[in-house]
Amino acid sequence: MTVPRMPRDEDFDSTLALLRDPYGLISKRCRHYGTDLFETRLLLRRTICMTGPETAELFYDQERFVRRGAAPGRVQKTLFGRGGVQGLDDEAHRHRKQMFMALMTPERIQHLGELSAEQWRIQARNWASMDRVVLYDEVQEILTRAVCAWAGVPLPEKEVRRRTAELTALFDSAGATGPRHWWSRLSRKLSDKWVSDIVEQVRAGRLDLPEQSPARVISTWHGPDGQMLSPRIAAVELLNILRPTVAVSVFITFTAHALHQFPACRQKFRANDGYLECFVQEVRRWYPFFPAVMARVRREFEWKGYRFPRGRRVVLDLYGTNRDPRAWDAPEEFWPERFQGWDGSPFRFIPQGGGDHHRNHRCPGEWITTELMKVACEFLTEQIVFDVPDQDLRIDMSRLPALPKSRFVISNVRPDER
Ligand code: HEM
Repeated sequence: MTVPRMPRDEDFDSTLALLRDPYGLISKRCRHYGTDLFETRLLLRRTICMTGPETAELFYDQERFVRRGAAPGRVQKTLFGRGGVQGLDDEAHRHRKQMFMALMTPERIQHLGELSAEQWRIQARNWASMDRVVLYDEVQEILTRAVCAWAGVPLPEKEVRRRTAELTALFDSAGATGPRHWWSRLSRKLSDKWVSDIVEQVRAGRLDLPEQSPARVISTWHGPDGQMLSPRIAAVELLNILRPTVAVSVFITFTAHALHQFPACRQKFRANDGYLECFVQEVRRWYPFFPAVMARVRREFEWKGYRFPRGRRVVLDLYGTNRDPRAWDAPEEFWPERFQGWDGSPFRFIPQGGGDHHRNHRCPGEWITTELMKVACEFLTEQIVFDVPDQDLRIDMSRLPALPKSRFVISNVRPDER
């Protein structure tokens, strides 16, 4: 029997190539090699890159991979924060993950949806008098207000702009280079400080919050050792709620983009009860957002004859897996109906990670994400009418996260009185 050799990139290091093409590089190279995986160097470290549902299933096998030490420092100093659930393994992870999952009851998710709907109504009142409304920017503020109210995080009116900008910088500028990246790092420091003060206030009884509110749940959570999380780590975890909720603004901008680019879909919302759900799932599948996730090999093993040495960094391509032609018919087509009667496979459709929400690192915020997207979609199709002026709607695929170049501008906004 011949043992297959893992293809190895000729480039000494592929970091720059990945920055130029963060969504496409892994699947393109895999196609080039005719495999689901290859080895390269990223940030000078030997790394195995993988794509497709089969390698996704492998990636989420916790006997084989760990997260500790997998995320590069620049990601921890911006997007994730240090000491949060993303870098935990085994019992420590399962325990911390319970804290997030406990917040995700249908009633609580619906409540966040209602808070966001209220903010859409309030914010949109200003839009009638504006020449042009940059949807991406406006939605960041809508979601900041909604999630702070939901989480029990006080947000005085005079701080709204500033906190919105800081929370946005944590995800919108983390993947940048130069000054934008440094703004993300500064925002991490400012946000950690802001939220750890809130944790201290809750603990000291100076901020009295309902028992179920995320700020209270996280501030008073006890780890497996029976101790409360340090205020700094509790802050990182509370920011793990606030930041990604504001990041749903990216998917909402793509929702508006899809409503515009595929206008035939608009007709189907009323006619077909389940269509809204299918539509937002297709937006999550088709549009680029979180490109890939990282882990490290726990102990050496072989898979299909390929050797995975202990400690080797592994990157799983999320975007390419969502568009893998082996898993999806006509993957390049935007076609919401594909989600009718869909089997829910945990390794084929992985815009927010795969596997099991409780046991694996799969995103606990998926239901919040789809709920907020649905509220946005209903608002944009039923509550207001608007024009979409000439603008550059091409999606900038070299940016992290990718976005329409214009950030989706609308004008002549008025209530829908049909
Ligand atoms: C904006 C859309 C979102 C995207 C694209 C997204 C994407 C992801 C991805 C790719 C992961 C990592 C999966 C892995 O490592 O295997 C993740 C994890 C996580 N997400 Fe999300 N997410 C989003 C929204 C949310 C929301 C709304 C929340 C909370 C309210 C949230 C909270 C988290 C947390 C706490 C983790 C870490 C889970 C763990 O390590 O076990 N995310 N997300």
